[in-house]
Amino acid sequence: MLIDILTTFPEMFSAEAPAALGLSIPARARKASVVEWHATNIRDYATDKHQKTDDRPFGGGPGMVMMCQPVWDAVMAVEAKDPRPARRVLLTPQGRPLTQGLVEELAKEPRLLLIAGHYEGIDERVIEKLSPLEVSIGDYVLSGGELAAMVLMDAVIRLLPGSLGAEDSAETDSFSAAEAVGKFGKDLAGRRLLDCPHYTRPREWMGMAVPEILISGDHEKVAKWRLEQRAERTRARRPDLMGPE
Ligand code: ADE
Repeated sequence: MLIDILTTFPEMFSAEAPAALGLSIPARARKASVVEWHATNIRDYATDKHQKTDDRPFGGGPGMVMMCQPVWDAVMAVEAKDPRPARRVLLTPQGRPLTQGLVEELAKEPRLLLIAGHYEGIDERVIEKLSPLEVSIGDYVLSGGELAAMVLMDAVIRLLPGSLGAEDSAETDSFSAAEAVGKFGKDLAGRRLLDCPHYTRPREWMGMAVPEILISGDHEKVAKWRLEQRAERTRARRPDLMGPE
């Protein structure tokens, strides 16, 4: 997958450690050529001599608004650099909430073009012309779309084939669709449940033992227990995810 990011802070997307995307799974995926990303400075497409990308809002009020022309020219120039069609995504608190379902959808795209706005927002006319998918990572306001773009990138990249080793499979992640274990848990299949609890050595720590079933060696029993735990946690912590039972 190719991911282009349009931003006025391209340094934030450095692939060199210790930047956020320069460590862990995204870094490994990039080294393995599972994903490639390039951050382009929208400022490079400004046409005035001060390389201005924003201006005061019509109608008055505080803050600055990103101008149409540099955003439009940057999108056109970056899209022309690769023949793969890009799914345009604008990060904004006004967007569709980012869920694991949407992440799975975006992970199927050959190319993403992420637009990270700053200031009070982007001139609505360029948004209308580009008609990007508008995505929000939550009901709070960040100082810009960059961190939101990185959150989206991290969530998408870890789903790309070849990103995760066998030792860290995404199948039972929180919000992944549950699978029945034989006839067991058919009513839960397909539901996006929270993850189950996890344990590692030692078997006993501060007088607390690991659940017996996990050391039984019975894979089917373990799978059933995990599915039950996922359902129980989801009911207790996020009943909204359970829906009607
Ligand atoms: N830009 C600023 N806040 C944001 C949010 N919550 N989601 C996506 N982009 C943003």
